[in-house]
Amino acid sequence: MSGGQRLVPLTPDSLDEAQRRLYDAVLASPRGQAARLIRRDDGSLTGPFDAWLRTPVLGEHLERVGMALRTDTVLPAAAREIAVLVVAKAWSADFEWWVHGIVARREGVAESAIDAIGKGRRPLLEDAACQAAHDVAHELVERRRLEADTLERARKDLGERALVEVVTLVGFYQLVSGILESFDPPGPSAELPVVGPPAGVARAGSDLYEAAATTRAVRRLRPDPVPDAILERVLRAATWAPSGGNLQPWHVIAVRDPARKRALAALYRDLWADYASARRALVAPLPEAIREPAERALQAGDYLADTLQDVPVVNVFCFHPDRLHITDAGLGRPSVVGGASVYPAVQNLLLACRAEGLGCVLTTLLCSREQEVRQLLEIPEPWATCAFVPIGWPVGGGHGPLSRRPVDQVAFGDRFGAPLFEPPTDEEAR
Ligand SMILES: Cc1cc2nc3c(=O)[nH]c(=O)nc-3n(C[C@H](O)[C@H](O)[C@H](O)COP(=O)(O)O)c2cc1C
Repeated sequence: MSGGQRLVPLTPDSLDEAQRRLYDAVLASPRGQAARLIRRDDGSLTGPFDAWLRTPVLGEHLERVGMALRTDTVLPAAAREIAVLVVAKAWSADFEWWVHGIVARREGVAESAIDAIGKGRRPLLEDAACQAAHDVAHELVERRRLEADTLERARKDLGERALVEVVTLVGFYQLVSGILESFDPPGPSAELPVVGPPAGVARAGSDLYEAAATTRAVRRLRPDPVPDAILERVLRAATWAPSGGNLQPWHVIAVRDPARKRALAALYRDLWADYASARRALVAPLPEAIREPAERALQAGDYLADTLQDVPVVNVFCFHPDRLHITDAGLGRPSVVGGASVYPAVQNLLLACRAEGLGCVLTTLLCSREQEVRQLLEIPEPWATCAFVPIGWPVGGGHGPLSRRPVDQVAFGDRFGAPLFEPPTDEEAR
């Protein structure tokens, strides 16, 4: 939005009676959070409304249609928002894209779907009504017709009433887009609370390799809430992990209660302080090239320790010791196999957070304070804790490139130590 003044915005003191009626109706309408976007600091209206004030009676009818499309339709809200986003994308209508992106996230539309629509790709949606709404909207805006098979599929998945509603909605939002693109009104003054990834957050979408290659510890997290629908999606991804005998011997407690988060943070701060000072002492004599990245990670860790109480969700993974298949017990060395029935779930959660643009980090320091955590979160015996994963929208760029040993140094062929792959050439290593 360039903020060009094709129409000089009308402030409330300049309105006649009919304009005032429309102005009041727009602000009184139950638009929820979006209402905060509509009125600018000087009292003028954003979106299509300032333009409609020029023809207030027509504007009143249009405003009522806009509200009716939200409140008097059977079309599910997520499907509705997907259709609006398709129109906004086709028209490159930034304001519409931005506002309806917020609403879509609140209604549980997946980041990967919004991302795909933004890139002009067809998202594959689990919900048949959402898929139908997308396909109808896309065909209408791209081809200006509805093919018979799209119509039939949509009739089946939406029913005739919602099908007519989605076609009407597409027409209405094309009208709105035309107003926005013609008059280019200034954007809103209000800062909205973040209900989805802030602009610029890197999301890996659904590309597994990209997600895995960029899922690093993100410890600087914003306090803005994680919508329930997104939390449910990332925790569902955790449940897809394998476990010995498929027993899934774990639970996760999503801690959002401020008092409990404060108590976890108080425990964590002390543990981190001890860990960080030992680590700083260890790296102090090392060359700059090693010390500098270590110090950066430690500073991020300091940040997390200082702000853990403000992180929107701390996911506490618990496991049942009697339900693990511990095939390496009794070998006279630390046993690790039990953890293999839980940590894949934790990794799935991290990857799902990555796909959503959420920052996250696997932490285990609090495991040493299990008794206090057990009391705090009312974890019954013999359930025990094995991982604490704070998640939230990243403060900075969030996930990104990893620093890991190259595969030729990690993978052997046939016997321990035998090379499997050639080391990368200097060119490839760069
Ligand atoms: C088993 C395990 C325990 C960890 N515990 C903590 C922790 O308590 N606090 C923390 O800030 N990071 C913790 N981490 C994160 C690691 O420090 C991080 O993954 C590692 O340094 C690599 O950093 P990167 O993922 O940003 O490349 C833990 C990671 C693992 C796998």
